[in-house]
Amino acid sequence: MKENHMSSIEMTTTFADQSMRETAQAILRANDRGGYTVPSAKLYPFQWNWDAGITALGWMCFDEARAWQELDSLFLGQWENGLVPHIVFHQPADSYFPGPEQWGLTHRTPPTTSITQPPLLATMVRLMRDRAKDNGLAKERIATLLPKLIATHHWWSRDRDPENTGLVVSYHPWESGMDNSPAWDVPLAAVPPTQREYHRRDTQHVDAAQRPHKTEYDRFVYLLDLFRDLKFDAARIYAECPYRVVDFGTNAILLRATNDLADLCEDAGLPDEARAQRARAEHMRQAFALLWNDDLRQYVSLDTRTGKQLVVPAHATFLAAYARVYDGPSATQQFALLERWIGQARFSLASLRPDDAAFEPQRYWRGPVWPHINWMIAEGCAHYGRNDLHDRLCADTRTLIAEKGFYEYFNPLTGEAYGGAAFSWTAAIILHWVLES
Ligand code: GLC
Repeated sequence: MKENHMSSIEMTTTFADQSMRETAQAILRANDRGGYTVPSAKLYPFQWNWDAGITALGWMCFDEARAWQELDSLFLGQWENGLVPHIVFHQPADSYFPGPEQWGLTHRTPPTTSITQPPLLATMVRLMRDRAKDNGLAKERIATLLPKLIATHHWWSRDRDPENTGLVVSYHPWESGMDNSPAWDVPLAAVPPTQREYHRRDTQHVDAAQRPHKTEYDRFVYLLDLFRDLKFDAARIYAECPYRVVDFGTNAILLRATNDLADLCEDAGLPDEARAQRARAEHMRQAFALLWNDDLRQYVSLDTRTGKQLVVPAHATFLAAYARVYDGPSATQQFALLERWIGQARFSLASLRPDDAAFEPQRYWRGPVWPHINWMIAEGCAHYGRNDLHDRLCADTRTLIAEKGFYEYFNPLTGEAYGGAAFSWTAAIILHWVLES
């Protein structure tokens, strides 16, 4: 059954005159599985890493204890080496592929996947601290979370940048959170397709035209089998994984989080750790020069297997504002690019520049608007004093959700809504950002 057979909570999300705040809160409560929030009931029935971070921001607006609990639940899945997995399988559900048995990690409690997602958690904790009304609770929760955040940042540097380049690598397109971005087409083509049978579940819930192709899934599955076969050994994966990409988005999000972690460490009386994190952030920032593309005049990702840049106009470039990497002239030039990009579609912000040949306005990360990325980019615009761009991104996000419902992603040309309904991070972004702007 597809998700357009909506339950009553999903139906209310399409009525623009309904209080957005009440609807957003009701979505988070309905997606709460007891201490963690599923992104969308049928399509994504577990806890996802970066969804949990954004969703916690939403909970923070009306239930602070529950917001902190979201992160505690996520960290139940943290590995001994510091990795925070991309999915934590707290309870079984059979509506998702690849489930826990596919990753070869059912012996863990709770089972998890073996890959990660964009590392925004330290930034979310910092924003939650800034928003907290119950400062005692915030202090207590941060004291518990901080060692776990530090461990995950050390894991990123050690296991994902073993040559100390200042840039971390991803081993699977899903680690970028932007699963089928055209930026991954070239490196993914170098991955052999799996020869084994598997059964996707996503296309039972959502129209196949809005989801990745089978050729991509064959390679997604090959990679997860490889990690299991290599026994999740960091050195072997670094040496042997055919897909090894410096994703600009992940690195920008990590740079921002590293500075936020340094602030949290300073507050907590850990000056040495704060200093180490700041040094790491500076090393990262300098390494970003390798990701600048002069033809597109924007940041791009890098295939470290070939040494070639992945020359694709993906909107991740604007996360540079969120990461605070611009100086004066580059800010002016990048915001001019953003304005032109906004001008090419009715609703901002298209995940691929709309005049690019690979642009598909309905297919997932190949064109659609994603509300939480709008927020991250808008936050960066406001930081650099571009409130006009912030306000445009915010207004478009509001219009799309008010008129079409709390969906996963939207067509930038028509506004049509796609993917999962009653989506948690869409609700969270309404609460944390749109209703507060
Ligand atoms: C999809 C998205 C990913 C997200 C997940 C759960 O896989 O591409 O970014 O975390 O769904 O919402």
